[in-house]
Amino acid sequence: MSKFAVLGYGVVGSGVVELFYTNRDSITSKAGQSMDIKYILDIRDFPNSPYEDKFVKSIETILSDDEVTAVAECMGGVHPAYEFVKACLEKGKSVSTSNKQLVAEKGAELLKVAKEHHCNFFFEASVGGAIPIIRPLHKCLAANEITEVAGILNGTTNFILTKMINEHMEFETALAMAQELGYAEKDPTADVEGDDACRKICIISSLVYGKHVYPNSVYTKGITDISLDDVKYAQKWGGAIKLIAYVKKLDNGKIIPLVCPMLVSNENLIAHVDDVFNAVMVCGNGIDKTLFYGRGAGKLPTASAVLGDIINEVQHSETVLSQYWEDTNSTDFIADYSEFTAQMYFRIKGSNTLVPEGAETICTDDDDYTVFITKPMSIADSERLCASIAENNGMVVSTIPVLDIK
Ligand code: HSE
Repeated sequence: MSKFAVLGYGVVGSGVVELFYTNRDSITSKAGQSMDIKYILDIRDFPNSPYEDKFVKSIETILSDDEVTAVAECMGGVHPAYEFVKACLEKGKSVSTSNKQLVAEKGAELLKVAKEHHCNFFFEASVGGAIPIIRPLHKCLAANEITEVAGILNGTTNFILTKMINEHMEFETALAMAQELGYAEKDPTADVEGDDACRKICIISSLVYGKHVYPNSVYTKGITDISLDDVKYAQKWGGAIKLIAYVKKLDNGKIIPLVCPMLVSNENLIAHVDDVFNAVMVCGNGIDKTLFYGRGAGKLPTASAVLGDIINEVQHSETVLSQYWEDTNSTDFIADYSEFTAQMYFRIKGSNTLVPEGAETICTDDDDYTVFITKPMSIADSERLCASIAENNGMVVSTIPVLDIK
């Protein structure tokens, strides 16, 4: 009999308990041994819960119980999750977490602690909700040099954008719905400003390129500036605006991770990923392109990924070494955002603005806007173009890079 503990009985933690007892028989047969939840840690009381006898308030109860060999951390935030997870790993108890902030900020250190104590720190649920992406990246796709990863990694913003585009719903109403459905972070600013997607692309970048990428070295822009005008011109061009988390390996060996709204052509399946769904496109020198798609947030989808890791922990007690990256004090391996090169969408106030040579015009006389898409240029060059448009009395209202993977 293998016993595990659940830390935090919020949306994800309660989902882990619910899904485990719903599917306990099949989970047991897949794990190869009987399993049960021994403790649920939460500072709140749940007097009418069917699991009332499992609730504890002190992490010490779990740490001192040798029968508990695995722990599902679903508390969110860095503190005290970090201290609790580290203490569990130091006791040789493997941890499965849905906490992307914890992995993005402390992943390298916790992986090292797990390795030193011959256990595992797994985090499949931290990126893409239900989508299996972490294990495929370091196992199934291990034979590839990964050149680029691009995806929709935040369910809340994709839900909001979809509601705005298809139902012309106000931003605030759509956000309130996402919160009610349990998709949004405690502080939804992390969703709409891109920080949640940033943490997820940090985790993917660290795993794929082997060095810890910290959130403060990633250019991050959310969806709060997206207007219905841009949505309309994107449709006219033949695409959609999506919040894209992206990383690419440049020819000079550096990587360029970023999060920002991008124009995605309808030829790319990512343009058709709606509502809370996430999608991750992985490009490699063996696979060409592979797309992973599924529910990116929510109680049971996220619980599914946490429990998948717990089952894996029961099956493999020794550290899985392919899921590892090093910490580094340097950011030398990360290129500056200004080096990112893409076609650029420009919306300019003023219909008499000259469209640059080689650009594709979307409109020149609609609502007093000039809208065009340039040839590929670096962000630095697009900023120079903005400055020269301003010198000629044009007002650049928005610039959005075009995702160049089809
Ligand atoms: N707030 C996150 C999202 C939850 O909307 O994607 C899943 O990580």
